[in-house]
Amino acid sequence: MSITIQPFSDWLKATAAHVENVLDEFLPEADIEPVRLHEAMRYSVLGGGKRVRAALVYAAGEASIGAGQSLSSAQAKALDHASAAVELIHAYSLVHDDLPCMDNDDLRRGRPTTHRQFDEATAMLAGDALQPLAFELLAQTPVAPALVIQAIELLARSAGSLGMAGGQAIDCLAVGQALSQAELQVMHSMKTGAMLQASVLLGGIVVGAGSATREGLERYASAVGLAFQVADDILDVTANTAVLGKTAGKDLQNNKPTYVSLLGVDPARELLESLRQEAHAALLPLGPAGHRLGDLADYIVGRDH
Ligand code: IPE
Ligand code: IPE
Ligand code: MG
Ligand code: MG
Ligand code: MG
Repeated sequence: MSITIQPFSDWLKATAAHVENVLDEFLPEADIEPVRLHEAMRYSVLGGGKRVRAALVYAAGEASIGAGQSLSSAQAKALDHASAAVELIHAYSLVHDDLPCMDNDDLRRGRPTTHRQFDEATAMLAGDALQPLAFELLAQTPVAPALVIQAIELLARSAGSLGMAGGQAIDCLAVGQALSQAELQVMHSMKTGAMLQASVLLGGIVVGAGSATREGLERYASAVGLAFQVADDILDVTANTAVLGKTAGKDLQNNKPTYVSLLGVDPARELLESLRQEAHAALLPLGPAGHRLGDLADYIVGRDH
């Protein structure tokens, strides 16, 4: 009997569709008061996005239980909670990132940004409400309480002032500045890398990965986390608005230091390739169980939007 492995692009599509349903179920219905806030939360989260962070959660969960093993139903449910939690934090970070006081963007995921579709106060509050919802879901993860606490602590640290929010603060202060490569790496690893890393590690934590597996996941995640933002910087200058679903050329317009402004497109691409290889090297100890994570590293560096 031959085992057919689902092609990566089908798996990613199925995973994105699955997390969309999970998010739809976890988000308050739009007819619950305050209706406008719930509408804005659902608008910000549902109906778009590549769902890379959710895919990293599931792939890391599968990598951590070993090749050929299947997830228990509690583990599968735990991965649903973790993947929804990271997508909620991510959606909140995008809503706030797009506000006039930050990047001032009108287009996100091919649609008006939340503050354009609603208003600034509603967009701020939608972000404010998505964040605690993520922690509520993690707190309800059906695994051992010690693992739940580890998961909550990791997400809190990764989204906070030493992670995503801190990176965004550095980004705001860096407008018009020429950062060194070391400074840029810190900013990118915090504003974007931290949440990608959290996604990978949460997948491992909630299925009870051992310390050797967690070490491999951590090394993998630090490479793909940085790679994700380097690719985002490159796409800002090489892709067009229709494909990106957000306004191309915004970094230059907003005078942001990026890997492209610092190094140029080709050296930035070379750096991406070396990060891709670093990610694959980190997966070697995980053996065949890590294949989806390997595919995701290739996708993150090779994507067109
Ligand atoms: C965009 O993230 C913001 C960054 C951290 C670079 P994504 O490119 O993952 O956005 P969606 O979720 O697919 O829309
Ligand atoms: C955003 O980085 C990072 C976070 C939202 C945390 P960017 O500002 O480059 O993301 P895009 O290009 O607007 O998606
Ligand atoms: Mg930004
Ligand atoms: Mg932005
Ligand atoms: Mg960008």
